[in-house]
Amino acid sequence: METKSNIVALSGSIRKNSSTQKVLNNLKNFMPNSVEYEIYNGIENLPHFNPELDNHQPPVEVQVYRELLSRADGVIICTPEYIKGVPGVLKNALEWLVSSAELYTKPVAVITASGNGENAHQALQLNLSMLNANVFDGAALLISGANSKLNEDGEFVKNEVNSLLKLLISKLIQEVNKKDSL
Ligand SMILES: Cc1cc2nc3c(=O)[nH]c(=O)nc-3n(C[C@H](O)[C@H](O)[C@H](O)COP(=O)(O)O)c2cc1C
Repeated sequence: METKSNIVALSGSIRKNSSTQKVLNNLKNFMPNSVEYEIYNGIENLPHFNPELDNHQPPVEVQVYRELLSRADGVIICTPEYIKGVPGVLKNALEWLVSSAELYTKPVAVITASGNGENAHQALQLNLSMLNANVFDGAALLISGANSKLNEDGEFVKNEVNSLLKLLISKLIQEVNKKDSL
């Protein structure tokens, strides 16, 4: 029987009705049957990162989050930009991965969907490089003016954007499969 690949998604927005969350929900439709796709919904419950809590028994929320990511074959991060950077809630979640290294060499795709978003897009990739994540060629997609391109269901109304998202997913899966065949 074919084993499925696990792809876990993280959202940089915890707002109810967030366009970021809608985009991530909508990506389900682009996933092939060979993929188990899960959106992590505990990001807002992670405590503020504190190296003193990052010991042999970190907070239980952190343990669950790290376990989920360690089981993932690939990760998708979708985020808006807040004050020219990565939203604090997402930055905090990434800080919890410094010592435990769940993203080390793991394929990670990055979607910044925001008003402008350029700064968060660059900053997030820099953060991921510090974590030694595999932000492979073609892994990053910036969607500026995102809200005006989305309908109520979080679907991009322009086929062009949907094609770019599909391409991103297929590249992520390719990267995941590459790792599997090593
Ligand atoms: C506190 C705050 C700061 C923001 N700063 C920026 C910014 O620096 N650059 C940008 O492009 N958009 C900025 N925005 C706009 C958001 O990125 C935009 O509304 C985005 O669609 C929100 O994502 P969400 O719908 O997933 O919550 C900001 C929004 C808020 C609430």
